[in-house]
This record gives sequence, C-alpha cells and structure tokens, in this order.
Amino acid sequence: MGERNRETEMENILKQYSEENQVDSWKTLIFLYNAALKEVGTKLDILNDEFQHVHKYNPIEHIKTRIKTPESIVKKLRKQGHDTTIDNMVKYVNDIAGIRIICSFTSDIYSMAEMIGKQSDLKVLSIKDYIKNPKESGYKSYHMIISVPIFLSDSVVDTKVEIQIRTIAMDFWASLEHKIYYKFEGNAPDYISQDLRECAKMVSQLDERMLKLNEAILKCLEEQQEARAEEPKGAPEQADSGQISE
Ligand code: GTP
Ligand code: MG
Repeated sequence: MGERNRETEMENILKQYSEENQVDSWKTLIFLYNAALKEVGTKLDILNDEFQHVHKYNPIEHIKTRIKTPESIVKKLRKQGHDTTIDNMVKYVNDIAGIRIICSFTSDIYSMAEMIGKQSDLKVLSIKDYIKNPKESGYKSYHMIISVPIFLSDSVVDTKVEIQIRTIAMDFWASLEHKIYYKFEGNAPDYISQDLRECAKMVSQLDERMLKLNEAILKCLEEQQEARAEEPKGAPEQADSGQISE
C-alpha cells in the first residue's frame, strides 16, 4: 500500500469513529514511528559495521522495516476491546513500527540482542525468547519491544519499536507459515499444523548444523594459519588453496 493511501485510509477510519483532531494526531504519530525506524535502523547499521570492522564478519544478513497498516492497527485494538483512538494505539499496539533483523546464525541473534540492550539511550520494555521457548505453532524468533527517544524541536518523545531477530532459516519458515495460515484464516486442519511443526524442527536442525559447520570452518582456518606461521621462513609459497571468498 502506498504511503498516501495508508494516510487516507486511517483518516477515513478516524473521521468515522472519533473527533476530527485525531486525524492530525495520526499524521504526527506516523511521523514519529517513521523517525523511530530510521533511528533504530541507523543504530543497527553502525553495530553491523563495527562488527565487520573488529571481527571481519557481518552478523546481520539483512533488515526489514515496516509500519503496521491502519487496517491491522484498528483490528488489533478491536480484538483487545479498545476504542479506536490515537491514545489507545500508542498505549496498546506495540508493533506499529517493526524491524526484523535476519542473522546468519542463532549465536548472532543473542549477540545482536545484547548489543541492542547495551545502547544507553534505548529502553528495553519487554523480551520474548521464542527460540528457547518456541510457540505452539513451531514459531521461533527473539522479540524485543524497545523505546527510542525522538528529539523534536521542542520536546523528546519516547517511541516504541518491535524488534524481531531471527536466522534466515527461521525467517523462511515464519514467512511461509504466515502465508499458509493466512489462506486458512487461522483454521488450518490438524495434519497441516502438524506438518508445519515438523518443518520447524527441520529448520532448527538446519540452523544447528550450519552453526556447527561454521565453527568447524573457523577452527580449520585457524589451524591452517597457525601451521603457516610455523613454516620456516624462506620456504616456497603454497599454491592457491582454491578457496572462493564472497
Ligand atoms: P501479536 O498480537 O500477533 O502481535 O502477538 P503478541 O502481542 O502476543 O506478540 P508476539 O511477540 O507473540 O508476536 C508478535 C509477532 O510475532 C506477530 O505479529 C508475528 O509477526 C510474529 N509471530 C508470532 N507468532 C507467530 C507464528 O506462530 N507464526 C508466524 N509466522 N509469526 C508469528
Ligand atoms: Mg504483530
């Protein structure tokens, strides 16, 4: 949905259900959540660059950001039994601004979460570790609700952002599961839910195996380097090992 359509959709909803001045508040709200996504996005880029600089390695594969659609904000409020007001959106909908960080390995998820937690201007409001405690569906991911201060010309506004951190494999599963469940509107037959849980297990095994493989590769490279360092000086150069680097 285009930015413009989204604005008009919420304006129509608010005009229908509440006072006119709420429309202006909605515009301010979306401005704040967009600013929060920019702030947190920049922080994550810097952390990733620093990691690359120090450890010669990127823990982040990629980042996705999104602002929740007006339709789903209103749906969520109604589901919780709240009126459609701007105040209620700020108070009860924690994922209006969302960032998804896709990491290479499970260990990177915890490094990222720790680095985010240490940023002194961010407040961590809640953490849900669905990696240690997966959901009934099989869903795995690390969730944080944080708030970031947005500095305006005459005030500072703490703005909430939902951060989901997962591996490429977890993201692959969650994206497809979401698509499948959407088709069934939450009422998928048992054998399908069962199969999805089986797939989630396979995804976890894949993550574990990839992590072990990565550790083995790093160890092997280290040993090769040590062996090379112990070679007597003046020995002929080894032929190219044929390794492909990205
Ligand atoms: P929501 O009302 O869905 O936001 O749930 P919540 O407030 O209880 O928060 P929770 O941390 O459990 O889930 C937040 C988000 O995680 C959802 O909006 C989804 O993006 C994702 N999520 C949670 N459970 C599942 C799941 O079973 N499958 C998939 N694909 N995504 C999930
Ligand atoms: Mg959500």
